[in-house]
Amino acid sequence: MDHSTDSLIPAVVATNTATAAVFNTLIQTIDSTTIIFRSSDLEDPIPEFAQPHTRLVLEEAAKLLQNGQVVGMPTETVYGLAANALDSVAAQRIFKAKNRPQDNPLIVHVSSLKMLRSILKDNTIPAQYSDLIRTYWPGLTLLFPRSCLIPNEITCGQTTVAVRFPSHPITRTMIWICGLPLAAPSANSSGKPSPTLASHVMDDLSGKIPMVIDGGQCSFGIESTVVDGLRVPPAILRPGGLTFEQIRQIQGMKDVQVYKKHFTDAAMEQAPTTPGMKYRHYSPEAEVVLVEYIKPDTTTHINGSGYSLSTPTTTTTTSTTSTTSSTSPSPPSPSSPSPSLLNTATTGQYSLILKEIEKLKLEGKKRFGILRTSFTLSSTDNMARNGSNSTGTNRDHGEAGYTNATLNDDSCVIEFPLGQGSKPEDVARELFRGLRYLDGQKVDCIFVEGISEEDEGLAVMNRVRKAASRTISPETATTFL
Ligand code: TXA
Ligand code: MG
Repeated sequence: MDHSTDSLIPAVVATNTATAAVFNTLIQTIDSTTIIFRSSDLEDPIPEFAQPHTRLVLEEAAKLLQNGQVVGMPTETVYGLAANALDSVAAQRIFKAKNRPQDNPLIVHVSSLKMLRSILKDNTIPAQYSDLIRTYWPGLTLLFPRSCLIPNEITCGQTTVAVRFPSHPITRTMIWICGLPLAAPSANSSGKPSPTLASHVMDDLSGKIPMVIDGGQCSFGIESTVVDGLRVPPAILRPGGLTFEQIRQIQGMKDVQVYKKHFTDAAMEQAPTTPGMKYRHYSPEAEVVLVEYIKPDTTTHINGSGYSLSTPTTTTTTSTTSTTSSTSPSPPSPSSPSPSLLNTATTGQYSLILKEIEKLKLEGKKRFGILRTSFTLSSTDNMARNGSNSTGTNRDHGEAGYTNATLNDDSCVIEFPLGQGSKPEDVARELFRGLRYLDGQKVDCIFVEGISEEDEGLAVMNRVRKAASRTISPETATTFL
C-alpha cells in the first residue's frame, strides 16, 4: 500500500460550480482497532495510534474537511457524510451531494464534552442531560438550544440543534484531528436506505464527494436514538440503539415518551424535525411490504433458536443470474436453494408471504425478495433429512408444494437472512444492507418479516414502517397503508 501523502489527495476531475464538483472519489481503508482511547473520561479524550497509516489517512480527510469539503466516514450507527458544522458553505455541500431537502436539519457531531460546551448557548450543558450523558455518551443524539455559532444551514430554522457524541473510534478521531464539530447526516442519497458499508456510500455518492473512509461494517446498523430532553415530558424523536427501556431508567427520564407511539404532534409532522415524518425514507426501488410480527405461541416454531443463515440464498427455475456488484455482500449461491422454501416447517409470517407471492405472480411479477427474521429448527432438520434440493411436484402440500411451484416456473425468490427476530440487535445490523442487497438483485417486491417492537426492535420496526408502502398481517390479510 502506498502511504505517501500524494496518493491520498483525491483528484477533482471537473468543476461546475463551487458546490457541484465531480470527483474521482478516493476510498481509504483504515482499521479502527489501530486507534486507542486509554481513558473513558469524555471531557477531552485523546486518541493514540497503533499505526501511522491510520493517522495519515485521517489527517488527509481532516484537511479536506477544514477546507470546507465533505467526507464519507463510518460511525457505529451508519456511515455519515461529514462537513465542518460551523461553515455554512460546507453544510450546503452536504445537501447538494445527498440531494437532501433544504429544510431537513443536520446532526452536529462532537468528540469531547469540551467541544460540546464550546458550541452551546452560554457554554452550558442543560442540567436535565447530566445523567443521560454520564450513562450513555458516547452514543445517542440530544437536542440543545441553538447558539448563534451554529449556522442556519445546519438547523434549518429550528431553535434547537441536535448534537451527538459518536462512539466509533474513527469518527471520534476524525473530529479530534479536525478540531471542529462535524455535521453528518447518513451518507446515502436522500430517500435511500442508510449506508452501513463504505461500498453503500460509493454506490450513492461516488463522483460527488472527494473521499470515503472505509472502516468496515457499522456495528449497530441503524441511526442513533434522538432524544428531546428540552420538552416536558422528554421525547424520543427517533428510536435507535439506545432503547426506550434503557432511557426511562435514567433520572428525570422516567416519563419519556416515544414519538408516534405515545404521542403525535401535527406541527412536528409537517416540520422535518424528526426523521421520516415529512419525507420518504429508507426506500429502495422495489416495493417494500411489511409482514407484521406474529407473536409466537406454544404450537408454532416462530423465531426458533439455533438456526441462522450466513449468506442470502436464491431459488429459481432458470439459471440464477447472481449479478451482484462488487459493492454487495457475498452473492447467493445458485446451488443452495432456500432452506425455508423447501420445507414444510415455516412460520405464520412466511406463509403469508408465500400467499402474497402467488397473488403477485398472477399480476406478472417474477422476482421477489424476503428479509427473513424467522427461522425454525425444524427447517434445518427437514433439510438435513430431505437433502437440500427438493424435487417434489405437488403444489398443494403446504409450503413444500409452493416450493415446487416456485421451482417450476421462471419466478425467483431470494431470501436474505437478517438474523433471529428474537435478537433485534442482529436484525438492526443487517436491515439496510438487506434492503440494498435485494434492490441490487432487481426484485419487484421486498417482503420484510417484522419483529417485536421491544428493545432495539422498536428502532428496526420504525425504519421498516417508513420503508414499507403496505403492510400484511394475519387479521387484515392485505392492507394498503
Ligand atoms: O446515527 C446517526 O444519527 C447518523 C450518523 C451519521 O451519526 N446520522 C443521521 O443523520 O442519521 P440524518 O441527517 O440522516 O438524520 C438526522 C435526523 C434528521 O432527519 C433530522 O430530522 C433530525 O435528526 N434532527 C436534526 N436536527 C434536529 C433538530 N434540531 N430537532 C429535531 N430533529 C432534528
Ligand atoms: Mg438519514
